Amino acid sequence: MIIENQLSSKPYNSFSADVDLQTVITLNQKEELFLISDILKNDVKVIGGGSNILLTRDINETVLLIDTKGIEVIKESDAYVLVSIAAGEVWHDVVVWAVENNFGGIENLSLIPGKTGAAPIQNIGAYGVEIKDVLHSLKAFHKQEGVEYIFQNKECAFGYRDSHFKGQWKGQFIITEVVLKLTKEGHHKINSSYGAIQSVLERKAIDQPSIKDISDAVIEIRQSKLPDPKVIGNAGSFFKNPIIEKEQFEKILDQHPHMPSYPAGEKVKLAAGWLIDQCGWKGKRVGDTGTHKHQALVIVNHGNATGDDILSVSKQIQLDVKSKFDIDLQPEVNIW
Ligand code: EPU
Repeated sequence: MIIENQLSSKPYNSFSADVDLQTVITLNQKEELFLISDILKNDVKVIGGGSNILLTRDINETVLLIDTKGIEVIKESDAYVLVSIAAGEVWHDVVVWAVENNFGGIENLSLIPGKTGAAPIQNIGAYGVEIKDVLHSLKAFHKQEGVEYIFQNKECAFGYRDSHFKGQWKGQFIITEVVLKLTKEGHHKINSSYGAIQSVLERKAIDQPSIKDISDAVIEIRQSKLPDPKVIGNAGSFFKNPIIEKEQFEKILDQHPHMPSYPAGEKVKLAAGWLIDQCGWKGKRVGDTGTHKHQALVIVNHGNATGDDILSVSKQIQLDVKSKFDIDLQPEVNIW
């Protein structure tokens, strides 16, 4: 455990926003949580990879950086492995480990920024797979009670970019460990349903894709469409894709027959990136912020944008989408 004072936030958030962090505790072993249980009872802000936060003010609360490490197979059968992963492991490192071992289930989630402990909070998802599809259970430390709980998948109430950890339990727990149920090659059903993956496989003339082929395809697609946060600050999709009533969907479709949409139970999910693009925002720049040239859903920091600059562009986008489509976009990113 390391305790430091007065740090710049710049290295700790993928937007590269620069605010003061008054006190920062870096956690290397989860057992250290018990040593600081009194501090945790106060308002503590937890940062994993910092890839889903927008910092708009100096942080006077204690910041806890999760840097615990460890990937371990805890159970194995002919077809499956249960793998326990420390919350501080970089998510993509876990994917690389799984692909190298021919364990299937998370290859579609390649190259998603952030650390493993944050992944279940918003149920990360991409290219037809969400972490909820492979999450067996997780461990989480209750800040007020000072005890660690085990939650099974069903208890987390996973939904589209959602879970109890974002909803009714928000701010109460620190996720310490995630257990995934991965499938051994030969028993694993590849998910290549997403059009962009199919195009890459066709171009490479791959008929029977392996777990690694899917991971490689996803990496290629993401690198071609999404900005690398190390080069251009961003937090991936800034907004969630809105889910609307069928009636409203039909009305918009009348005006925009080529609008992309996806079934969502009784309702319909729209592509926020498309809506923002239609408002003329794709690739638009306002000072040092704006949206990415290949994906209007990604708000970027071209250099020295502050959290407030980014927030103000996001609000302008919300107003424009509201006035053109009568749809309220909800941020996917946490705004501090
Ligand atoms: N589109 C446009 N213009 C744009 C952006 C998108 O017309 O500027 C259209 C695309 O052509 C496509 C549709 O909108 O028809 C959807 O775009 P895309 O396939 O890029 O996916 P998305 O819905 O924008 C979601 C996730 C991404 C994930 C991709 C791939 C959310 C909020 N975002 O994006 O997740 O990688 O699907 O599965 O659900 C993230 O959460 O940070 C993230 C990057």
